[in-house]
Amino acid sequence: MGRICGPGEDTAFRDSNERTKKMAAKENHDVTRRRVLATAGLSAGGLLAFAQSGVAQQRTKRAEERAEKAQEKAKETEKDQARVSAPEDLMREHAVLHRLLLIYERIAARQSRGEEWPAKTLSESARLIQRFVEEYHQKLEEDYVFPAFEKAGRDTDLVAVLRKQHDAATALTRSILKRTPVSPRKRPM
Ligand SMILES: [Fe+2]
Repeated sequence: MGRICGPGEDTAFRDSNERTKKMAAKENHDVTRRRVLATAGLSAGGLLAFAQSGVAQQRTKRAEERAEKAQEKAKETEKDQARVSAPEDLMREHAVLHRLLLIYERIAARQSRGEEWPAKTLSESARLIQRFVEEYHQKLEEDYVFPAFEKAGRDTDLVAVLRKQHDAATALTRSILKRTPVSPRKRPM
């Protein structure tokens, strides 16, 4: 059984009780406030991280797009550089023929001096001329270039000479291949 309060003690008890309640309420409020702030902090951090990852993804995507465009441009440039006009193409093929004719000249010079000469090299050169020059290059000229000049009535005398040169070259190739005792190679292409 509790002690009966003396005079003034009841008021003091009530005051103390009120203070205790207020302190508890304040503590509760502080705890709630801290939780709210912590939650808000976490949410803000999450949002920031999310936003940052979004920005990073956009940057990566843009970088990939730039790299892709650069690659496409490089490919186009490469194609442009590789692309040559028809006359340039024919001139380059003539350069191949000129190199082969240098081999003919060196062998002919050795033959005229009575020196040994490489029959296999001569045979291989003749086969290359037959495959590349006669069956491909000359054929293009005879099928497309010469008829265009003849149709236009331009340089027809020159075209006639070139046709005769083609025929003579073909006969020479056949003669060389017939006389060089080297077994034929497999088709290079
Ligand atoms: Fe030619």
